[in-house]
Amino acid sequence: MPGAVYVNGRIVSEGDAVVPVLDHGFLFGEGVYEVCCTYGGRPFLLDRHLARLRRSAALIALDVPPDAELAEAVAATLRAGGFLPWRDGAPEAYVRLIVTRGVGEITYDPASCPAPTVVVIARPHTPPPPEAYERGVRVALVDVERNRKAALNPLIKSNNLLNNALAMQQAIARGAFEAVMRNYTGRIAECSQSNLFVVRNGVVSTPPLDAGLLPGITRAFVLELCLELGIPAAENDLDVDGLLGADEAFLTSTTREIVPIVQVDDAPIGDGRPGPVTARLLEAFRARVHARAEA
Ligand code: PDD
Repeated sequence: MPGAVYVNGRIVSEGDAVVPVLDHGFLFGEGVYEVCCTYGGRPFLLDRHLARLRRSAALIALDVPPDAELAEAVAATLRAGGFLPWRDGAPEAYVRLIVTRGVGEITYDPASCPAPTVVVIARPHTPPPPEAYERGVRVALVDVERNRKAALNPLIKSNNLLNNALAMQQAIARGAFEAVMRNYTGRIAECSQSNLFVVRNGVVSTPPLDAGLLPGITRAFVLELCLELGIPAAENDLDVDGLLGADEAFLTSTTREIVPIVQVDDAPIGDGRPGPVTARLLEAFRARVHARAEA
């Protein structure tokens, strides 16, 4: 199986890749990460992912190596993992880029860690099954609240993923594809690993950043796509009634693109089938992605 892992300049197989136990990423979840996928062997929107990584890192006062160095680490890992050079029909890669505080004393003092740890995991990407796109998915409205901004800002895409993992555990227990999370005011924020959109009367909307959510790269791309296609779109507050009363709903993420949501727990969304606006966006999204990959 193709795949490779880069750890601070060394590239090894997944089974051989290790980080020291005194790494603050391991001890405290102190680190930031990005996930991107390749199309035609090229990481899609890598520049935007690196920019977000840098913003996340700044919010935890972590220095990250220059973009060019990170992009080269990603490319080297893709080459070592057998994803590059790319051939038609070859597997695409899931790329997880992680930067942690690095190794230091068991203290919260960042000064004890002289150098960050940089890890790149490249493995074959497994997208959701075709039925998820054709028939849509059911999500669970969970009672784990999304972190409050003043406690742990969701703008930070951090390795500290307990909030997300606990939410997703509830969804898994209910057999749902994703967990929809509310913020402390009860308004909907996002899902455990993706952003949420609704469509009502032809208008696409998604909760604003101040609802406390990760500014998804796919979320932004979809908003740009709406503009391009002349589909009205906006960031709007969303509550549970707004979600349940929507004509259509969908989720977005790097690894999932645009997945129609047809049910929230027992309640159908719209007529319980993927809607036309969602289908149009998914088609346009894939056309753009492949056009860029071929360019
Ligand atoms: N998840 N919200 C959360 C909490 C996420 O973890 C993610 C991404 C998103 C979507 O962001 P983007 O469109 O940039 O992928 C929203 C990645 C894929 C992950 O952790 O695997």
